[in-house]
Amino acid sequence: MTILAGQQVDQRARRPDVRPDDQRDLAGLLGRRLPGHALEAPFYLSDEVFALDVAAIFARHWIFVATEPEVREPGDFVTVDLGPYSLIVVRDDEGRVRALHNVCRHRGSRVLTEPRGCVGNLVCGYHQWTYGTDGALLHAGHQAPDFDPNRLGLKAVAVRVVHGLVFVCLADQPPDDFDEVAARIDAYLAPHQLHRTRVAAQEDLVEEANWKLVMENNRECYHCETGHPELTCTFFPTYGYTLEDLPDRLLPAHARYLRAEGELERVCDERGIPYAAIEEIDTRPSAFRIQREALDGAGESYTTDGSVASRRLLGDLDTPRLGRLSLHHQPSSWFHFLSDHAVTFAVLPLAPDRTLVRTTWLVHEDAVEGVDYELDRLTEVWRQTNVQDRVLVARAQAGVASPAYEPGPYAPNEYQVDAFCTWYVDRLREHLRT
Ligand code: FES
Ligand SMILES: [Fe+2]
Repeated sequence: MTILAGQQVDQRARRPDVRPDDQRDLAGLLGRRLPGHALEAPFYLSDEVFALDVAAIFARHWIFVATEPEVREPGDFVTVDLGPYSLIVVRDDEGRVRALHNVCRHRGSRVLTEPRGCVGNLVCGYHQWTYGTDGALLHAGHQAPDFDPNRLGLKAVAVRVVHGLVFVCLADQPPDDFDEVAARIDAYLAPHQLHRTRVAAQEDLVEEANWKLVMENNRECYHCETGHPELTCTFFPTYGYTLEDLPDRLLPAHARYLRAEGELERVCDERGIPYAAIEEIDTRPSAFRIQREALDGAGESYTTDGSVASRRLLGDLDTPRLGRLSLHHQPSSWFHFLSDHAVTFAVLPLAPDRTLVRTTWLVHEDAVEGVDYELDRLTEVWRQTNVQDRVLVARAQAGVASPAYEPGPYAPNEYQVDAFCTWYVDRLREHLRT
C-alpha cells in the first residue's frame, strides 16, 4: 500500500506530533518501504520519526513495563520512562497495580525521581503536594477556598497484569485485541506461576541504537552462531531456518533439535502443557508470538550446560525438562520462561539513537540465593548475550548513519524481522490515517 500526498497530508497537518515540513518525507518513507528489505535510515536516525514512534507506537499500544513481583506490597513502585513520558507503576493500598503519569498536577514536576522504592504516599518534592497510592490528591497546602482536590489526582494510565507481567497503555482507547491475546497465551504462561516469583536480578543496559534495531536484532538468530557462544550452548542455532534453507553445517544441530523436540512434546503432552507456535506478528495491533521449544544440552534452562540454574522449580512443576517458553510481544518486549526461572526484557526508547533494555530474572519466591541458585550462573547467559547484542546493534546504528547505507535484503531466516517492520510501518500508516 502506498501513502500518497493529498487528503492524508492535510490531516497530518493538524497532528501535534508531525510538523508540516515532515509530512512529505514521512509519506515518502512509508510509501517506499520495500517488503523483504531493511528500513531506510531516517527510521533509525530522525527526531521526527522518533516523535512519531512515540505517538503512534508507544502511546497507542500495550507496553510491557514491569513484573508484578517488583511491586509486591502496597506502596511498592517503579518508575518507567517511555520517550518523553514518565510513568509510575505502583501497588495501591487496596492491593491493585496502578499506572499513573509521573507528572505533578501542580506545576508538572516529576513526583517520584527514584527508579524503584516503597512509599506511603506519593509526595512531590517541589511543593509537597501529596497523592495517595491510587493517585488521588490528598494534600496541597495553602490553597484558595475554591480549590478542588478531586479534579487534581495524578492522571491514570490503563494497566493490565497478565500472569505477573505488567502492561500499560497510554491511549484513551487501548487496542481492544489485547484481551484476546491474554486469553490465547494464558495456558502457556500458567504453569510458571509468575505471581509466586521474586526478582533475583535486574539489569539496565543503555544501548546506543534506535529501539527498532534492538527489536529487529532480537527477531532473528542469524547472528547467533558467531555472536552468542554462551546462548548457543542451549539455544539451537537452527532457529528461523526451514529444512530447505538449512546449511549442511547445522544438520547435526538439527538432528539434536528433532530428538529434543520429540522428548519435549512427550513431556508436555503428559502434563497438558501447550507448546505449539502461535505467530501473529504482522496481522494485529497487539502482535505476538509464543512457542515452547526444546533447549540443547540438558534441555532444562539457560545455562552453559543446559541444566537448571535454580533447584527450586517455578510453580508446581514436577520436571525441569520443559525447554523454553518464549513470548514476543510488539512493540517492545520478549520473555523466556524456563522450569526454574523466567527472564523478561523491556525495550524502552530514550532517544532516536538510545534505548534502555531492562532485563529481569525471576526465581521461585522461596528460592534462596547460595542454596538453591548462584546469581552468576543464573544470569550469565543473558548478561553475556545482552552485552554481545549491545555491541551488534550499536554497530548497526553507526552503519545506518552513513550516507552510503541502503536497505539490504533479509535472509529467509530473518522473516520475523521483516514481519516486525511490516507491522511497524502498517501501524504508522494507520496512525497517520486517523
Ligand atoms: S510541582 Fe509538584 S507540588 Fe508543585
Ligand atoms: Fe542476539
